[in-house]
Order: sequence, then C-alpha cells, then structure tokens
Amino acid sequence: MMNFKGKKALITGGSRGIGRAIAEALSEAGCDVAINYLRNKKAAEEMKSLLKKPPLLLKGNVSDEEDIQKMFETLEKEWGGLDILVSNAASGVLKSPLEVTLHHWHWTVDINSWALLRLTQKAVPLMKNGGKIIGISSLGSVRAIPNYTLVGASKAAMESIVRHLALELAPRKINVNALSAGVVDTEALKHFSNREQLLENSQKKTPAGRLVEPKDVAKVALFLCSDLAEMIHGQTIVVDGGYSIVA
Ligand SMILES: NC(=O)c1ccc[n+]([C@@H]2O[C@H](COP(=O)([O-])OP(=O)(O)OC[C@H]3O[C@@H](n4cnc5c(N)ncnc54)[C@H](OP(=O)(O)O)[C@@H]3O)[C@@H](O)[C@H]2O)c1
Repeated sequence: MMNFKGKKALITGGSRGIGRAIAEALSEAGCDVAINYLRNKKAAEEMKSLLKKPPLLLKGNVSDEEDIQKMFETLEKEWGGLDILVSNAASGVLKSPLEVTLHHWHWTVDINSWALLRLTQKAVPLMKNGGKIIGISSLGSVRAIPNYTLVGASKAAMESIVRHLALELAPRKINVNALSAGVVDTEALKHFSNREQLLENSQKKTPAGRLVEPKDVAKVALFLCSDLAEMIHGQTIVVDGGYSIVA
C-alpha cells in the first residue's frame, strides 16, 4: 500500500525544505516526481542527484496563470497523467495587521490559497484514475502569531478550500487534505526577526521533546498519498509533536 511505482506526483516548492523532504520520500517509495520551484535553480538542480530517478524540474510562480499553464503543458506532454499534487510552495508578508496593504494581501493569498485551487483545477483532468491532493498548512491558520496576520489568514482559507474541494472530488476518488506542521527549521524561518526565540520556545513547549523536522511532515504526506488514507477526505492533519495541544 506504500508502493508508489508508476505513480506521478507534482510537488510545488519541492526544491527546498519541507517540499524537498516530501519529494525525497515519494521518490524513495518509487514515485515519479515533478518539482516546481521559482528562483533558486541550484537547489532545484541538486534534486537530480538526490532522488532515485531524476525529477522533472518545472520553474514557475504558482500564483501566475501563464506559468501554471506552462507547467501543466509540460506535465501533460511528458506524463499524460498525474496521481498526486502537493501544494507546498508558500510566501507571505510578515507585518502587523495595522500595517498590511491590499498589495500584501493579494501577494500572500494568491500564492498560499488561490494556487491550491488553480493547481487543482488543472490537475483534476489529469487524475483519470483518482488521485491525492495535499495542501501544506501551518498552525497560524487557527492561532494568532505576531506579524503572521496574512499568512495565517491565507492558510485558514486554504484549509477551507481543502474541505470544499474534498466534497467536490471525493466521488471521483480524489482525496483532498491539508497537512499542518509545527515550527520546522527551514530557510523560511530566516524571514522571522524572532527566529531564535521561535525555535527555542517551540522546542521547550513541544511534548515530544524536539522540533518537527521536514522528514516528519514527509512521512505523513506519504501516508496521505497512499491507499491507507483512502477514507480521509477534507481533514487538516497536524504534525507538531503535540505543541498545539498544550495550554
Ligand atoms: N518552516 C516552517 O516552520 C513551516 C511550518 C508550517 C508550515 N510550513 C509550510 O510548509 C511549506 C514549505 O515551507 P518551507 O519552510 O519548507 O519553505 P522554504 O524552505 O522556504 O521553501 C520554499 C519553497 O517554495 C518555493 N516557492 C516559494 N514561492 C514560490 C512561488 N511563488 N512559486 C513557486 N515556488 C515557490 C521555493 O522555491 P525557490 O527556492 O526556487 O524560490 C522553495 O522551493 C509552506 O507551505 C509553509 O507555509 C512551514
């Protein structure tokens, strides 16, 4: 049930951090992998030697319609079908709710929420034998974190989109779920001015006694992409070592 031979997966933002770990786990399980990235070509190229089978590399901004069109044209030409979509790429403006602008809002929501919808619209016609779709979320969707206003709102929207997509797509044997991670020490954290404090605080408050690592998220992504998760639809699965249950 964890054999992904012959399956084809697209992972957005799959060249670094959590996306990279998911791409590695799927590839290790026999899946063919396509990796979308945006700016860091070197990191994407590294994936050629890291994966069992060289991935398809798809450069493009997940909030840009033309880039999405091009990515899916390539996928259709190279593969003709798709089984798994992991919408992992994210961005966002970290500012106080009293300082954010409409431009910041569009930037964040277009990449973190709209992309899941648009990518799904393009992926579904390729998922002829059913499929699995995962959106990567964060605890900021349900908690208040200083300066995380827009990213938190965009992740909350994403989790709602996941439920609505799940309702629509379950009859087609497509499972749509969100996977929400606790703090993971990736390059994304460099954008937080309080990074050190965030890491220390998370580690201290996590019942499991350590921070979540990209491979912890990847293991659960693998499960959600497998037949073992056949009856899980529209859920947000939290992978945080217990951090969010502590009062
Ligand atoms: N790190 C955490 O603590 C944490 C916690 C909970 C949830 N998450 C979520 O996990 C996901 C991955 O985060 P991460 O920490 O692994 O990030 P990361 O290490 O910063 O990697 C981000 C990846 O996304 C790509 N990317 C960024 N903007 C893009 C765009 N507009 N179009 C296409 N690709 C784009 C980057 O490509 P380039 O390098 O080419 O720019 C890179 O591959 C995100 O959804 C994030 O919200 C992270």
